[in-house]
Amino acid sequence: MTTQSPGLFIAFEGGDGAGKSTQTAELAEALESQGLTVLRTREPGGTPIGEKLRSLVLDHGHGHIDAHTEALIFAASRAAHAGQVIRPALERGEIVLTDRYIDSSVAYQGAGRGLGTDAVREINEWATSGLQPHLTVLLDVDPEVGRRRRTAGDAAEDRLESEADEFHSRIRAAFLNLADAHPEKYLVLPAHLPVKELSARILERVESLLPLSGSVAR
Ligand code: TYD
Repeated sequence: MTTQSPGLFIAFEGGDGAGKSTQTAELAEALESQGLTVLRTREPGGTPIGEKLRSLVLDHGHGHIDAHTEALIFAASRAAHAGQVIRPALERGEIVLTDRYIDSSVAYQGAGRGLGTDAVREINEWATSGLQPHLTVLLDVDPEVGRRRRTAGDAAEDRLESEADEFHSRIRAAFLNLADAHPEKYLVLPAHLPVKELSARILERVESLLPLSGSVAR
């Protein structure tokens, strides 16, 4: 179920190193320059409890975390995020841009960890009371390119990022399957395109959805 509230809900998805945060920032800036109110947020995280859960599940050093526990931590973070941040912003008529949402769990925990995509979707639909994005922008990245991009700086890889390329290939395929199943709800773009070309194509698609939103001017 997509939200019935006046706002517009857009999720950015894709493998690690796809450039989601750059594109989320580009889109936020473009929409704000039109006088629209945008809430930019991310998962795991987005709330104080969500940020704590983020470090629990991503940082090394908490010992072994089994796949079910991992999936439930991401879902717990998402429950807080959807209920305390996303839904209220949509009810205020804002445009919500989230860096990752349910599809990340379906791809990483469902396909990557092998928990099953249907089971992971179900717990997340329960956790969010069925709150779905109007549009998901999928930045499709080759796992090898993604790894090169994210290790280009000094940043250390987190628990998920440091998994083998084969894990990341399963995730890539799972994201593409999700988009194939509901093409009207997705914009799939190759992550290797120039930043400005990607941002122009994303803005064009989002502008076509603006009549859906009662987005309030600042
Ligand atoms: P992200 O914040 O995109 O990484 P970064 O801070 O490096 O930009 O995501 C952190 C990691 O968590 C990423 O490897 C994907 C993973 N993840 C899941 O496995 N399941 C989920 O439900 C979410 C939201 C993220």
